[in-house]
Amino acid sequence: MTAYSQLLRQLPSTPRTWLVTGAAGFIGSNLLETLLRLDQRVIGLDNFATGHRRNLDQVRERVAPAQWARFAFVEGDIRDPACCRDACAGVDHVLHQAALGSVPRSLDDPLATHSVNVTGFLNMLIAARDAGVRSFTYAASSSTYGDHPALPKVEHAIGRPLSPYAVTKYANELYAEVFARCYGFASIGLRYFNVFGPRQDPDGPYAAAIPRWIAALLEGAPVWINGDGETSRDFCYIANAVQANLLAATASDPDALNQVYNVAVGERTTLNALFAQLREALAPHGAAPDAQPHYRDFRPGDVRHSQADIGKAQRLLGYAPTHRLADGIAEAAPWYAAATRLTA
Ligand SMILES: NC(=O)c1ccc[n+]([C@@H]2O[C@H](COP(=O)([O-])OP(=O)(O)OC[C@H]3O[C@@H](n4cnc5c(N)ncnc54)[C@H](O)[C@@H]3O)[C@@H](O)[C@H]2O)c1
Repeated sequence: MTAYSQLLRQLPSTPRTWLVTGAAGFIGSNLLETLLRLDQRVIGLDNFATGHRRNLDQVRERVAPAQWARFAFVEGDIRDPACCRDACAGVDHVLHQAALGSVPRSLDDPLATHSVNVTGFLNMLIAARDAGVRSFTYAASSSTYGDHPALPKVEHAIGRPLSPYAVTKYANELYAEVFARCYGFASIGLRYFNVFGPRQDPDGPYAAAIPRWIAALLEGAPVWINGDGETSRDFCYIANAVQANLLAATASDPDALNQVYNVAVGERTTLNALFAQLREALAPHGAAPDAQPHYRDFRPGDVRHSQADIGKAQRLLGYAPTHRLADGIAEAAPWYAAATRLTA
């Protein structure tokens, strides 16, 4: 039995109170759904900057009414210290996901990204420390590897950041480490690598590639690849990211605390190969089997290749990803098809 399956068995009989920031977003709403299904009490904090009420509505539809009754939503902004303080009261585990994602967004407006991702993060860290929470787990990012050339990426070997977004995520790690050193408040950072799955936003100028491409394939619209398509990523299905959060939040091994971990599968797929896989998986849902991508310039701030070494999370957290890229695409395809029909 894996550490995660043991945890899934144990949690319903030991309900705790969780705070999920960014609960109306992609990763946050999936954390919320999993926790409610496990009969946990959850507080969600979000200001809908990039998240949506429809994500919360979908979670409500997918859990039992008694489980939904254990959810309290706070509409608020992590840039407001009082809001963070109130949200942390009585909380056991914080899963801090709220941030402004996207490298291009940070290039367009570095100050906005900084104020949410750094000042907001610090507000949350202070509030969680002062509330005496049992654990604080936060969304870090693979962008912290920056220009370091080594593959696969190992946690201790990072390069120079390539974007303002990457600076903010690295600053989170620095603050987290200093809070352990100065205040004895140890946390865990999860460096996500290109997470994808249901409820990831396909719209807007800063949408991630997978939801954007899927929506385009299903609508018969052009799919644009930045660069030659040989850029590669370690695509991580949402179920793996949820697993990592729950394992990190409940980790009791002192060696596991005050650390950052890669959260990915440990495999590398080029954008050209990703396109081909998506086209095939979506053909039964109406995607043209002969659709071809269009190519344009490389995007500034993007790293060329990315692949995680997940050994540290395996060793210290018992992390064991359940979904490789193809499994995740297959599981999520019906959801994407339904979502595209709804917005058509
Ligand atoms: N999706 C990925 O592949 C990926 C990769 C690396 C890191 N991350 C990190 O994971 C976290 C979640 O990302 P996501 O993909 O779910 O993005 P998302 O945009 O779907 O979710 C972020 C949520 O945070 C909320 N938020 C933003 N600013 C806020 C503020 N000031 N106060 C309160 N709430 C605020 C948004 O409204 C949104 O609901 C982020 O910290 C992101 O940087 C994501």
